[in-house]
Amino acid sequence: MIYAAVLAGGSGTRMGADRPKQFLEFGGKPVIIHTVERFVECDGIDRIIVMTPAGWCGYTGEILADHFGKDQIRVADPSRACSGAAGRITVAAGGSTRNETLMNAIAVIEGNGDLDEETIIVTHDAVRPFVTDRMIRENIQAAKNTGACETAFPATDTIIETDDNRYVTEVPDRSRLWMVQTPQSFRAMKLRDLYMSLSVKEKEVLTDAAGIYVRKGEPVEIVKGESSNIKITYPQDIAVAEAIFNALHA
Ligand code: CTP
Repeated sequence: MIYAAVLAGGSGTRMGADRPKQFLEFGGKPVIIHTVERFVECDGIDRIIVMTPAGWCGYTGEILADHFGKDQIRVADPSRACSGAAGRITVAAGGSTRNETLMNAIAVIEGNGDLDEETIIVTHDAVRPFVTDRMIRENIQAAKNTGACETAFPATDTIIETDDNRYVTEVPDRSRLWMVQTPQSFRAMKLRDLYMSLSVKEKEVLTDAAGIYVRKGEPVEIVKGESSNIKITYPQDIAVAEAIFNALHA
């Protein structure tokens, strides 16, 4: 079974808007709808779980139902098992960190009775609406082959290191540096087992799921991203998204 987990559990503090940034609009639709569309359109994906802040589950269910049809959506009741889901898209509550949101997504898969050694979870930031079909398909293949993969793109800027946010301590060779995007995809059971094996301190430091694999000596394959696969983070990124959208639909 191939699951997509669209991670929309964040609150968008750097955006500073009146609602989480995944609900802001460009190209006439909320960011989260653009992103979920990419997975709905990919026939390699069996089911889609949309993880949203707990207080936004109902609203998220409504806008998804408006766009994709009521029969496609169910909002998971966290107090009950999630078996018997009719539609392809489930909405469920995220956690207080991105990794906790991911673990909640795996709990939904387990509740559906779909968690086994073969289950693949393609995890993706709800605020990266320009993910492509190629990236999703290559993620599924790489996760099947290697067990874990992440989408990345060669660094375009020189990157520096600093210990004190004031002086430069290191200028790493740019030719070896890639910028991490999403999707990141995994065999879901293994991801959960690795996460459960972390100490509280490791959980604080290893905020990137693929980073957990690297720390534990497990291989992570790279899927080539795109410069257009931006993450909407700051207010100006909405205008950038609008421009990319217009260029893609010209
Ligand atoms: N995310 C999540 N659950 C969390 C935190 C983040 O699902 N507890 C998701 C966000 O919704 C987003 C993605 O992870 O789609 C990338 O995170 P980021 O850009 O940092 O989003 P926010 O946490 O919302 O933004 P900020 O850091 O500015 O508050």
